[in-house]
Amino acid sequence: TFRWQGFKLEEYLIGQPIGKGCSAAVYEATILLSSNYQSSEDSKPLEGKTPDTEWDHGSDIQAAEAKPIQTNQQRAAFPLAIKMMWNISAGSSSEAILSTMRQELVPASGSALSGEYGTVACHRRPVFGKKKLKPHPNIIQVIRAFTSSVPLLPGAYVDYPDVLPLSLNPSGIGHSRTLFLVMKNYPCTLRQYLNEKSSDAHLSTLMILQLLEGVDHLVRHGIAHRDLKSDNILVELDSAGCPWLVITDFGCCLADENIGLRLPFTSWYVDRGGNGCLMAPEVVTAVPGPGVLIDYSKADAWAVGAIAYEILGLCNPFYGQGRSSLESRSYQEDQLPALPDTVNFDVKQVVKMLLQRDPNKRLSARVAANVLHLSLWGENILVPKSLNLDKMIGWLLHQSAATLLMNGLVDRSRVETKMKTCFLANLEYEDLWEAAFLLLSWRNHSV
Ligand SMILES: Nc1ncnc2c1ncn2[C@@H]1O[C@H](COP(=O)(O)OP(=O)(O)O)[C@@H](O)[C@H]1O
Ligand SMILES: [Mg+2]
Repeated sequence: TFRWQGFKLEEYLIGQPIGKGCSAAVYEATILLSSNYQSSEDSKPLEGKTPDTEWDHGSDIQAAEAKPIQTNQQRAAFPLAIKMMWNISAGSSSEAILSTMRQELVPASGSALSGEYGTVACHRRPVFGKKKLKPHPNIIQVIRAFTSSVPLLPGAYVDYPDVLPLSLNPSGIGHSRTLFLVMKNYPCTLRQYLNEKSSDAHLSTLMILQLLEGVDHLVRHGIAHRDLKSDNILVELDSAGCPWLVITDFGCCLADENIGLRLPFTSWYVDRGGNGCLMAPEVVTAVPGPGVLIDYSKADAWAVGAIAYEILGLCNPFYGQGRSSLESRSYQEDQLPALPDTVNFDVKQVVKMLLQRDPNKRLSARVAANVLHLSLWGENILVPKSLNLDKMIGWLLHQSAATLLMNGLVDRSRVETKMKTCFLANLEYEDLWEAAFLLLSWRNHSV
């Protein structure tokens, strides 16, 4: 029934705020059953129903960033999350809003925009010259996107009074209409997850691997996220209790049909993406000029290297002030903090090679992911001198059969199975051998 539903804000019941960033507020939500919606609509012409009308000025809702991990009960009642963009510069027409905020639509599913454009699909192309992503287990899916007028939602006067429209706040500077994105409601962000859980070596490797698979998928589509950080990664647990990571918040992404991953950097006004601390060296040190291009093809992979420190239980070396913090603009590789002895040697090497200043020496997300796949599951083929094509093919066939069986017969919701499927589905001869030879060379050196 959801197929024809959810294209209007009035169709949702909106609960409490669950997050807030620089450009939007995110609320828990659920779709109202058609019958509820019909009957309640006559009595309440308010856009975006809220279950509690007691909230008002000075409500005691906590700052969204400090929210604890949501309970399962909360998410059962509100399985969806609605991101309400703050609109201070896009004007109030739907066309202008969708065009200005089109990066947010990159992870939208094919039917997400049918409400706005279902009948006038031909308008879509010229309005959004942006690429579309195919679904991937480690990338958020935006299931509905529509514009609507801005409702007064819980916490608005406390959390974002200035961006409200005049009708709701006489000193607000927001426009009356904005973009809404509907997604699955995830229990927490990676930052929240890591604050509460101590790291386990195997799960940490799987988490880094998932980010690399997600980034590789973006690179294959000619897209750079440009704002990877632990607040922009959502987490839920799979059926085996393994954290399942999805990359979200595409508001700063580069996804241009014409230029791909090479951004002409002609003046300081050109937007290089969000999050200055985690901007790859080649991006942060670029100097604008005629003909200058910034190549983003390994920029997100660099950010994964920095986030890996957080996943492995350390502080991100590029955050914060003080002598121990590094700047991506100026650090030298030998200043990178050592990873604990408990971290697997191959993972240490991958992190080190993702944080190479020179993109030519840096691992691509694909090769880095391959290294981790081989390190996790390919131990018995990594025998020096006897590594050969036949052995590799035998191992790949074995992995393929095991993964298909696992997926079909046992449990398709396991992160491990999903990762193996990504690996096998994206195999390329050169990338695979590069990973295998890297692993062997590290082992030879360490003996
Ligand atoms: N689908 C979701 N499920 C649960 N929480 C979410 C979801 N999407 C976003 N959030 C929360 O809202 C915060 C802000 O969302 P985000 O998309 O990053 O907005 P912004 O563009 O303003 O940074 C996130 O850091 C996270 O805490
Ligand atoms: Mg964000």
